[in-house]
Amino acid sequence: RTPQPSGRDPRSIQVVAHRGASEDAPEHTLTAYKRAIEDGADALECDVRLTADGHLVCVHDRRVNRTSNGRGAVSALELADLAALDFGSWKNREDGPEWEDTSVLTLERLLELVADAGRPVELAIETKHPTRWAGQVEERLLLLLKRFGLDAPKTPADSPVRVMSFSARSLQRVRAGAPQLPTVHLVQFLTPRMRDGRLPEGVRIAGPGIRLVRNNPAYIEKLQRAGHQVHVWTVNEPADVDLCVRLGIDAIITNRPRAVLEQLGRR
Ligand code: G3P
Ligand code: CA
Repeated sequence: RTPQPSGRDPRSIQVVAHRGASEDAPEHTLTAYKRAIEDGADALECDVRLTADGHLVCVHDRRVNRTSNGRGAVSALELADLAALDFGSWKNREDGPEWEDTSVLTLERLLELVADAGRPVELAIETKHPTRWAGQVEERLLLLLKRFGLDAPKTPADSPVRVMSFSARSLQRVRAGAPQLPTVHLVQFLTPRMRDGRLPEGVRIAGPGIRLVRNNPAYIEKLQRAGHQVHVWTVNEPADVDLCVRLGIDAIITNRPRAVLEQLGRR
């Protein structure tokens, strides 16, 4: 069935920069996030992992091999080891710029950047491999958010920060420590108990992948009928942006925030 136009104003859709403006700049670097803020993104997405000495750093993969000049698992390296690596040169182009600020990005530094952005910028933090750490990722995350005064918003709607995960367990831990912090359940494939649009207890936002949205728009309608918000990742193709508009999606998570803002008539 072709999705019917939702009637939602496309300009009201939140545009979230996935790993920063990661099409243009090396993902998860300060440069990629600064560019996303300059581009006008409403929010920034980042993945967080714990280092061997207990720091939360913004790195997507389990290992640093793809996005740095080093090797090894983040969990086996200390922050000082990571700080010695270059997280930018893998994205160098012959005719392109030398990237600045390509040191490993701590979540703390990203929170400072957002605090100093000069305008409201939201943060969508994804916990990666939380099961390995039996609660430590969430514990450190909540401690850090508390230091920034971000762990206890009056209501979830007032919160500039939300926590996302494919792990319902991880979201449960976040809600136990910070009941007003919004949580997003990321969904790549549907299991039978999800088909009717049900989310884990207390979760109000679904984060389906774009492939699932394309293949199963009826699932999105079910989520919406159940009163949930829908944040879709990773939406880079103009036709997919159009689909999200037709479906009345709440947030588009994209590597190309500038292009998506232009398409939505906001630039
Ligand atoms: O925003 C959610 C999305 O980032 C999940 O997939 O692999 O890019 O972390 P991944
Ligand atoms: Ca992510």
